Amino acid sequence: MLSKKMLTALNDQIQHELESAYIYLAMSAYFQANNYPGFAQWMRAQYEEELIHTFRFYDFIHSRGSRVTLQAIPAPPADYNSPLAAFENALAHEEKITGDINRLYKLAIEENDYPSLSFLQWFIDEQVEEEENVGAVVEDLKRIGGSEQGLLMLDRELSQRQSPAAPVE
Ligand code: FEO
Repeated sequence: MLSKKMLTALNDQIQHELESAYIYLAMSAYFQANNYPGFAQWMRAQYEEELIHTFRFYDFIHSRGSRVTLQAIPAPPADYNSPLAAFENALAHEEKITGDINRLYKLAIEENDYPSLSFLQWFIDEQVEEEENVGAVVEDLKRIGGSEQGLLMLDRELSQRQSPAAPVE
């Protein structure tokens, strides 16, 4: 069984991951509406990845004999001033999620919860990749500036992003 503190924190993280999914789906809709199908595809794949993160927490709570409790998810922003603004928001959001994961890890240490530590290690590594991936697009967008041609090329490139595969247990 999870401790009460650990269970509360893990249930909170389900909300954070679902909120991430919701934010990226709204960003995908924003890009779709503004004729950037490649950026939209990239954000849609990111949305799907967040659902996988959500289910990792969901399944872990159950596997520890505890109960999942779902929480409300706030409405995400619908519009951004530019593709760069959207991706900068995504990067700031990932940095916030990294902080959440680090706090969860610290709590697991305090609670002497070794199974949770082992489980969370995957997320510690994943957040490095998440920040790297979003950060790379932010850097590309900064270099492109307002160039329509550059945006079109990057949009084509990001359209190649595939939906993530389900995790192998
Ligand atoms: Fe679930 Fe993008 O962190």
